[in-house]
Amino acid sequence: MSQMSPDELVARAILAQAYAYAPYSAYPVGAALLTRSGRVYLGANVENAVYSLTVCAERVAVFKAVSEGEKDFEALAVTTVNGGSPCGACRQVLREFAPNMPVFIADTEGNYRQTSVAQLLPDSFGPEFLE
Ligand code: THU
Repeated sequence: MSQMSPDELVARAILAQAYAYAPYSAYPVGAALLTRSGRVYLGANVENAVYSLTVCAERVAVFKAVSEGEKDFEALAVTTVNGGSPCGACRQVLREFAPNMPVFIADTEGNYRQTSVAQLLPDSFGPEFLE
């Protein structure tokens, strides 16, 4: 990554995780999405008493960025207590904007492994099918 080290992006995601609203699952998730312009959009999961309305940390970060005019993404870090992997819905949303982006999946100690949106969602459907 040209703008920021993986360690730093993971550290930002850990900060975001503290803002998770997860009273039902008790499973806070943090996300930090680095744009090519050098900005970082943070996300945390936001749960609801109507459980199905919960929005994941990754999608919060993507929607914050896109709704502020940023959709060129360089990297994503996701943090949970035990290094959980992004859900299928988030993989599809990430794929829309950044099909080859590196993804750092981390725990709250800062240990991470690197994968990519393409690896997480192979043989995917995307905007090119609708051209
Ligand atoms: N969660 C995320 O925020 N991101 C994921 O990719 C996996 C799951 C959240 C949703 C819910 O608030 C909690 O983790 C347990 O599923």
